[in-house]
Amino acid sequence: MRIKQQLLPFLLAGCLTTSVQSQDINSRAFQFAEHQTKLLLTETAAAKKELNKPKLLSPRTLDKNGKLVLVSSKDWCSGFFAGNLLFLYEYTGDKFWLEQSEPFVAGMEGEKTDGGTHDMGFKLYNSVGNAYRLTHQLKYKDDIVQAAKTLITRFNPVVGCIKSWDSRKEWKFPVIIDNMMNLELLFEATRLSGDSSFYKVAVTHANTTLKNHFRPDNSSYHVIDYDPETGKVLHKQTHQGFADSSAWARGQAWGLYGYTMCYRETHNKIYLQQAEKIAKYIFSNPQMPADLVPYWDYDAAKLSGQPRDASAAAIAASALYELSTYSKNAKSYRKEADKILTSLYNNYQAQADSARGFLLLHSTGHKPAHSEIDVPIIYADYYYLEALLRQRRIANREPVINTGGLLKN
Ligand code: GLY
Repeated sequence: MRIKQQLLPFLLAGCLTTSVQSQDINSRAFQFAEHQTKLLLTETAAAKKELNKPKLLSPRTLDKNGKLVLVSSKDWCSGFFAGNLLFLYEYTGDKFWLEQSEPFVAGMEGEKTDGGTHDMGFKLYNSVGNAYRLTHQLKYKDDIVQAAKTLITRFNPVVGCIKSWDSRKEWKFPVIIDNMMNLELLFEATRLSGDSSFYKVAVTHANTTLKNHFRPDNSSYHVIDYDPETGKVLHKQTHQGFADSSAWARGQAWGLYGYTMCYRETHNKIYLQQAEKIAKYIFSNPQMPADLVPYWDYDAAKLSGQPRDASAAAIAASALYELSTYSKNAKSYRKEADKILTSLYNNYQAQADSARGFLLLHSTGHKPAHSEIDVPIIYADYYYLEALLRQRRIANREPVINTGGLLKN
């Protein structure tokens, strides 16, 4: 079989045991991502045709038989694939990727009025938000502001938080650490609309979470359940982690990313300090493997046969690049982030033309529910691409957060 010239670098990377150094991986990883994502586009179109369910929009993961799992725009993972396509446009400047993103972005717009979810940021900001950032089309601006209006209907001023889930009988007003990620949408909506109420909700949520979600060692609980009438904390528990008292790996990464982003938006040093404390917890954790890709829960790591969570590593890498631009510990954060990306590139990427076009293997979605264990998951790919973009921007001496425009190669 003849191998196309442009595929050689990552085919070799997948076969050779020698590690490729961080400074070399960036463009190779993007070459690989372009190739794989074309496959994922083809696989997605084929699966939609086969299933004939018009509501299915975008790829989420692979099932136990290796079949592509598609989700509708309602799903919390529905906006990531649009984001991936836009990241490829951002990196390459190739209009092909922008055009490919358009139906996936358009498919998300209707979600802006769904007040039944806290995942508005994951869904709308990562799809429509990226589209607005890169194209400045006015319709996207309106979508972002409407999505923020809908999201703050879930805010309870007595609790000081946005409610995460509605349908869990065991909890009255659950708030999960993941919810920090949805605040980025609110900050952006204030910038776009001039309405400070979104900003105020974001800051109040971040402050309440800071007060109640963290333990003395700076790890975080997954779920805090509040009394909606009094704001009192009723329960400190887990949903996706190993135990109520454990440190679920992705939750720690969401916290790191969330407080870094809150510092960017507010310049409140408390948030910067919290992000640094979380980084310390993660990267000085004795259960962190040498390749910096954690097991799915730091407190389950000692048990035998536990899966890793590549998504947690990708989220943390992206957060660390940003944190490095605000912190005295810039050098060590960049070193850790580079190390994560090198590990992901060398040992967690799928072989070219496999995994139906996903980029990273070995993520864990919901271990206690026996769901999505050691699989590719679309949000791992999203934060991998975002981290690679940030790595590249830092190397180019550009601001790590791109508020608009394409990457200068
Ligand atoms: N709820 C988002 C996650 O599973 O991380």
